[in-house]
Amino acid sequence: RPTIVCLQAGNVHSGAFDPFVETIAAAHDAGAWVHVDGAFGLFAAASPARRHLVEGVEAADSWATDAHKTLNVPYDCGLAIVRDRAALRAAMGMHGDYLIFDAAGEPMDKVPEISRRGRALPVWAVLRSLGRDGVAALVDGYCRHARAFADGIAAIEGAEVLNDVVFTQVCASFGDDEATRGVVDAMLDDGTAWTTGSRWRGRAVLRVSVSNWSTTAADVDASLDALRRAAAR
Ligand SMILES: Cc1ncc(COP(=O)(O)O)c(C=O)c1O
Repeated sequence: RPTIVCLQAGNVHSGAFDPFVETIAAAHDAGAWVHVDGAFGLFAAASPARRHLVEGVEAADSWATDAHKTLNVPYDCGLAIVRDRAALRAAMGMHGDYLIFDAAGEPMDKVPEISRRGRALPVWAVLRSLGRDGVAALVDGYCRHARAFADGIAAIEGAEVLNDVVFTQVCASFGDDEATRGVVDAMLDDGTAWTTGSRWRGRAVLRVSVSNWSTTAADVDASLDALRRAAAR
């Protein structure tokens, strides 16, 4: 029966990337369709410094990413990219005698809706305004801030960064689960930065996901101050 293997570019907790070269080859050998969830991580490809994280990803069959994450365009702006045009059309296309079809294909052949607003326009505007270098700088900035978060957290007594910080995500523990949940609650109370709690590898964690274009190094410093206050409480 048809099999889909879903690989991840950017794990929500660790920011980790699946090893695409080996996994896509293995899945294709077994006759599977390979989909890549790159909601935020696919944008690593835009940065020469991070591109290695998505090495081999182009061999997949379909990819999804969100312009409303990395590019900060308004919700909702998911992008689906499918290699096999006929498969996409067969899955998504809707037909009715009242609709006019061009043999070259219609936009509504590629999406779940017939009617939708012009979501592409803000994406075009952001890409046009930032350019290739600007998008790379945006991604690199998120990664730089995540690294600064990780370094700052690691220096807090009793705190531990649990993931290898390869991209924009940081997962930290502040001792046992109760202590970590206390820090999460104190941060939400404090309001300086929006960091939420989660569970990762069986432990309570505080999760940092850097994803806003306007975040500055000073914002990271202020957030680390808030974290130090929260940890002290
Ligand atoms: C890795 C990943 N996949 C999928 C999603 C779902 O994204 P959306 O429903 O906003 O397109 C998210 C959102 O947080 C995500 O981080």
